[in-house]
Order: sequence, then C-alpha cells, then structure tokens
Amino acid sequence: MTQRQILVTSALPYANGHIHIGHLVEYIQTDIWVRFQKLRGHKCLFVCADDTHGTAIMIRARAEGRPEEAVIADMREAHVRDFGAFQIEFDNYGSTHSPENRALCHTIWRAIRDAGLVREKDVQQLYDPVAGTFLADRFVRGTCPKCGAEDQPGDNCSKCGATYSPSDLINPKSTLSGAVPEIRSAPHLFIELEQLHGFLEEWSQSGRHLQPEVANYLKGHFLGETLRDWDVSRPAPYFGFEIPDSPGHYWYVWFDAPIGYIASTLQWCEKNGESLDHWWKNPSSEIHHFIGKDITYFHTLFWPGMLKTAGFSLPAKVHIHGFLTVGGEKMSKSKGTFVMASAFLRHLNPAALRYYYATKLGSGLDDIDLNLSEFVTKVNSDLVGKVVNLASRCARFLENSRLSEQYPDDGGLFASAAGLSEQIAAYYEEGNYNAAMREIMLLADKANRYVDEKQPWALRKDPSKGEELREVCTVTLNLFRQLVVYLAPVLPVLAEQTGQLLNRRIAHWDEVGTPLTGTTVSPFQHLMQRIEEKQVNAMIEESRPQSSEATPEPVPATPAGHPADRWNDSGEALAKEPLAAECTIDDFVKVDLRVARILEANHVQGADKLLQLTLSLGGGEVRNVFAGIKAAYAPESLVGRLVICVANLKPRQMKFGLSQGMVCASGSGGSEVFLLSPDSGSVPGQRVH
Ligand code: 2FM
Ligand code: ZN
Repeated sequence: MTQRQILVTSALPYANGHIHIGHLVEYIQTDIWVRFQKLRGHKCLFVCADDTHGTAIMIRARAEGRPEEAVIADMREAHVRDFGAFQIEFDNYGSTHSPENRALCHTIWRAIRDAGLVREKDVQQLYDPVAGTFLADRFVRGTCPKCGAEDQPGDNCSKCGATYSPSDLINPKSTLSGAVPEIRSAPHLFIELEQLHGFLEEWSQSGRHLQPEVANYLKGHFLGETLRDWDVSRPAPYFGFEIPDSPGHYWYVWFDAPIGYIASTLQWCEKNGESLDHWWKNPSSEIHHFIGKDITYFHTLFWPGMLKTAGFSLPAKVHIHGFLTVGGEKMSKSKGTFVMASAFLRHLNPAALRYYYATKLGSGLDDIDLNLSEFVTKVNSDLVGKVVNLASRCARFLENSRLSEQYPDDGGLFASAAGLSEQIAAYYEEGNYNAAMREIMLLADKANRYVDEKQPWALRKDPSKGEELREVCTVTLNLFRQLVVYLAPVLPVLAEQTGQLLNRRIAHWDEVGTPLTGTTVSPFQHLMQRIEEKQVNAMIEESRPQSSEATPEPVPATPAGHPADRWNDSGEALAKEPLAAECTIDDFVKVDLRVARILEANHVQGADKLLQLTLSLGGGEVRNVFAGIKAAYAPESLVGRLVICVANLKPRQMKFGLSQGMVCASGSGGSEVFLLSPDSGSVPGQRVH
C-alpha cells in the first residue's frame, strides 16, 4: 500500500468554555480516524488549537478582572487535560493567539487584499456606551417586536420564533452593563466572496470534497444566488489581532480561527524540522477537516476561498457530523444531560464513551443519540461480555507460560476474520464506525462460540490435556488480539494493555492477518470493568444545576386567601433554626457584605466538605475563601457566578490555608446548601445594604 500523507483537524474549541460530551463526539470521531490512519502505516498528523479571540473572551476577562491571556491560559490547561483523559492525542495543540497565527493571518490577508477582494463599508451596530463596546447580537436583550415577549435575545425570539435584527428590539438592554444601547456606525472590511463564486461552485460540487447532502445544501441555499460579502473586521475594543493596514480594526474571530489550523501545523513543523509547505502547499498532502454541521458555511465557502486566494492546498475532504442528543433530546442543563468531560471522568471510564460513540457514528450528518441505558448495556455486553471476556476466560490458564509455537487449527476462524480486514478498514475510512463495530462484534460472537465449545476450564482439570489447553488458549487469545487490533483506533488503552498481556505491542493494522505464537503470556490484569447504572445516575445528578441556577418555579395561577397560601411554604426551616436575638442597624453595618465573583473553584485535597474559592471584588481585589459547599456544588458550575461574601471577616488560618471571608448561603448543610446571588445588573464590589 502506498503511504499517504494526511493532515487532520478537529474544529478549534472556543477558549471561553469547558469541553462537554457534545464536543467529544467530534474529537473522538476524529481521533479514531487519525489512529486508524496511523495504524494503517500512513503519515498522519492531527492538529488542533484553542480558538481564543472575540468578544466573549474579552467580556469574560473584564468580568474576572484579569487579562485575556490569563483567561485563555487557564482554559487551555483544562482543555488539554480533558482531551488527554479521553485519549484524544493531538500531534500539536496550538492557540489562535500565537505568533505563528498572527504571521499567517498577515500573509493570507495580504494575498486577499492583493487579489482585490477587500471592500470597506459602514455598518450600523448597537453600541454599549457604558461598557464602551459594540454589541454582538447575543449581548442585547429586549422585547420581541413581533409578539411582545420580554427579555428576548438580539436576533430571534424564543417564544414566537421571529428573527430580527437587534436594533428592532423594543426596550433593548445591553447584557453587559444593563445600559440602553445606541446605534453607531463604524467602517468594516468585507471580503467579496462573489468574486470566488465560480471556484466555490466547482470545488463544492465536484463530488469529492463534501458529503452529498452538504454539497446539495450549499447549492440550494447559497450558490444559487449572489454570495454575500463577508464582514471580517471589528472595530476596537476587540480581543484579537489588529489588522496591519487598518489600525484600530481587528480581524473577526472567524477569520483567524481556521488559519489556526495552519499555525498549529507550523508549530509542529518547527518542532519536527519539517517544512510547512510540505503539508499545506503540496498536492500529495491530503487535508481533512472534521467539523459539526453548525459551522458548515465557514468551512465550505469562506475557508476554501481564503486558501485558494492565498495559494494553500484545499481540503481533500470536510467531514461533517450531526449534533449529540441525550435520550432523544437536546442536551439540557436542567435535566443534567449537559455533562462536562470532567464530570464524566469522575464517574465513568472514557473508553466506554469512545466505544459507544463509535457504535453510533455513521458517515452522514444525522444527529447521534446517547441513550443512557443503551450505553450501559452496550458497553457491558459488547466490550466486557464479548471482547474482554475472551481474554479473561483464557489468559489465566497460560499465565507466565507461552502461546503454542505453531498456530493451531481453529477451523478457519482467524483466517476468515482476517479476510474482513479491508472491509472493516473501508468502514473506518468512510467514517462508518457503526458498521465497523457491528462487524467486529459479529467476530467476537464467533470467538466466544469457539470458547464455549472448547471449554478450556474443563480441559484444565485434566492434566493429560495440557497441550490441548495451550492450543485452545492460543487460538482464543489470538482471536481476542485480532479483535483488539480492529478496535485499536477506538480503544487505544485496551490495545496497549493487550500488547503487555501478550508481550507484543500492537503496531500495525496488518497484524490482524498474522497470529502470534510462542510469546509469553503475562499475569492477567483486569482490562475493563462493567459499568453500573448508578455511576451514570451519579454523573447526571452532578450535572444538574445547583438550586440557585435552576429555573424558577412557575407562579401558581390561583391565588386564594392569605397571599402566603399561594406558595404554601412550610414553617420547617424557621422552626429548625429560630430567629436570633434582635440587633441594631449599627450591629448590622459592622458586617460588610459585598457582591463578589467566583474566579476559581477547586476541590481541596483531604477536605470532604470544602471547596476553595477565589473571589473577586473587582479592580484586582481578591479573597481566598474555603466554603463548605462541596456536597452541593461542582466547582466548574461556580466559576463566573456572582455571590455575596462577608468581606471584612477576620482572616482565619485553616489546615488548608488562609480563609479570608465567607460566602453567604442558606440551608441546613451538606447538599442542602443554597448560595445567595444578587439580581442581574449588580457587579463585584457593590456593598449589600
Ligand atoms: O464553533 C466553534 O466552536 C469554533 N470555535 C470552531 C472554530 S473551527 C476553526 F475554523 F477554527
Ligand atoms: Zn416573539
């Protein structure tokens, strides 16, 4: 087989949020494909990076009172940790906020300017005079101009579905400061995509680079008419790269984000002594992008247009997948199905998710559904019951002993499974992982039937059957190993462990065709545990919003009698903790209560009940506080939220460090703890009177 040179990317995750199980569909899908290509012996590079620019990061950094660079550095660390834990192995993980990316943006921009594709036009946009920034649609809320529903986002109404522009909203408010936005005009730079219409038509409709449904979608929605100019600049303030020939203007995040693919490759090349052109300006280098269907437009129109204009290679294929649903519904915070990668890892084995996603992924754009009970059943019955069980049924009988020197007669089982090698490889290549997993499990069924028939446990009892036992175990362990080679792109840890068990590392796909003989079998160690429904339930429970984030209870419709009857609040809490003795206002004002923002929340080693919180009072004033809220709140759910703290409490030295205050909460302790939050509009540092 000729060796291919393949560059693979997953979409660059935004640096303003943590990785969740929805993101993981794509990273797992891509990682499987990359591992498959490497196992086949191709030269394959997998690059990714954090997508760091834009208004959202700028606002977050302001809210946290620290530079954007600090925000993105922390998030990068979390992303890298989560990806690593899910065995997603990048050859390089870069950042769009890197010198390499800046330099490449300059080069590509120059080429686009030189090609005469850039035009300046005035754009009217809402501006927040208090925050001093133009407002992206999602930072404006107001009353729907169509149905009158209040507190609707700037671009569409969640009640009646109307779409509109933010300036159409009635009583618009900036979500950043609460101020009434003004309409201001500013010059923006646009790329005239229409000049590339012919090229984009040809590239997208060639039948080679896009899934047929994507090509049709582009034809039906965009290519049938004039392509709209693309607004690629934003006026200051904006966190990004300043446009060199347009001072005070910055490239819109979607301009420099895909260039991050090239920049990340460049970092890898610099570390490995290779030339960038070998990967990005070389007809024999294949470029494969994996993305979700929501960002189709950017990757199939703008991006090929930019690459073409600047003389870089075009994508060989853009692989587009659907969204994740859980139990047939959109992931939901209130239902606890919006599960963060880190939360998953606290309860379950990441290999289980890799396998489950593989059984669900096809080559189309259909959404994939995580059905939690099917997840448990599939992992237990397929991986534990069919695959790992083969090894656990036989490896102990050959512990510290050797596989037969010659591969025994197995009735053709190994050879016929090897005969499926190209079929299974084709499924992986096309992204039909579900078909590949089905084939592999059918092979596992056959191998298990072999063991059932041969009954090695019975042979073991008869000392005269020692050689026969060795042969049966040699066959079974080889059938097991063959399955593991087929599954290696999905289950790299199992492949690694199998290598150790049989003293031969799995290094190449073609090993499915050659049985192992004569190697020593290491002492058997558990390869994979069953998963329990209670682990899944605990993960969902942890992912539910904590009381203060939950949607408010709807107001009961029928008031009756005393106003308090409407709510039917019990007297239990008051009875449990009667009111304290009267105090004067002078007593009260001694306690300086302030609004604070949680910048960081961490578990404390050795403390069952505490979380360590870093609170900001604004303007760089921070407090370290230990709070007994661990049973009620997951740390990552707290970062960014506002709380009320006792800011002048005498610092107290605790076993874990100095506690410089207290956060206010109600409740009786344990998981019955409810943090107090101010209404929206309040800001860190404000005193509570
Ligand atoms: O949609 C997203 O999450 C973007 N951050 C993806 C960027 S992909 C690429 F173009 F950089
Ligand atoms: Zn409406």
